[in-house]
Amino acid sequence: MNQISSQHSFRQHVFGDESRRQFDACYPEQAAVLDHNMMSHELLTLDALAELGTALPEESVEYNPGDLPVGIKPEDVPDNGMSIGDTIRMIDSAASWAVLKNIEQMPEYERLLHSLLAEIRPILEAKTGQMLKPQGFVFVSSPNAVTPYHFDPEHNILLQLRGEKWMTTFPAGNARYAADEIHEGYHLGGHRNLVWQDDFEAEGTRHHLTPGKAIFVPVMAPHFVKVGPEPSISLSITWRSDWSFEEADARAFNGWLRKRGVTPKAPGRFPARNKAKALGWRVLRKLGG
Ligand SMILES: [Fe+2]
Repeated sequence: MNQISSQHSFRQHVFGDESRRQFDACYPEQAAVLDHNMMSHELLTLDALAELGTALPEESVEYNPGDLPVGIKPEDVPDNGMSIGDTIRMIDSAASWAVLKNIEQMPEYERLLHSLLAEIRPILEAKTGQMLKPQGFVFVSSPNAVTPYHFDPEHNILLQLRGEKWMTTFPAGNARYAADEIHEGYHLGGHRNLVWQDDFEAEGTRHHLTPGKAIFVPVMAPHFVKVGPEPSISLSITWRSDWSFEEADARAFNGWLRKRGVTPKAPGRFPARNKAKALGWRVLRKLGG
């Protein structure tokens, strides 16, 4: 890898003017494919990621064989018999899947995350307020690995660095794709995986991600991911906002109401705010409810 050229291009802006314009046009509610020019970076080679996986605390690293049946229960997932370092180094030959979570725990990765987010920070802060809780994740996957249908509570841009992926996204806040009760259960401690129906597939938007492409995924927009025929490396840069925390707390408050026999109205999506219900949940949480 050419360290000088990658650092050079990195300083030049990873998201160019056109991508930042596109991001501005779609944020925070529409998924959109953007261009990025971080084609290589010394912190994102397989060797560097193997070292990162070894250095991170155990709870920040998840990995397993990549050729599992789609419906396997979490408790039945076998160990792949290798260390995280070897799993990543051998991703070309061993059918595996690994995620490195909260890479910002390491100062050099924290700097990388913050420098990427700095490029779009003025755009996002103009809409959803202060950028909060920046977090970074790296996904290293063997060919054909599948990430099942789920949603995430963060604003997220996933940068494809190596190999290709297809991500299919669905509109955020549409109860057809994720029922209100599922949102509420998630924010009250449930799992992020969603209930899939085969007839959803034709209604989703399928995005093709190759190195140099990134995708912005809105908060709680359901999606699933399929890796192409080559090993894949992706970097996910995420943040929260007052808006996203209010939506999350309003969902939790609704769950509390529903358990008490009330059928609550779903929180509004952007630009609606959900201050009153969020405040309700924050008061309950303080009271230990
Ligand atoms: Fe996701």
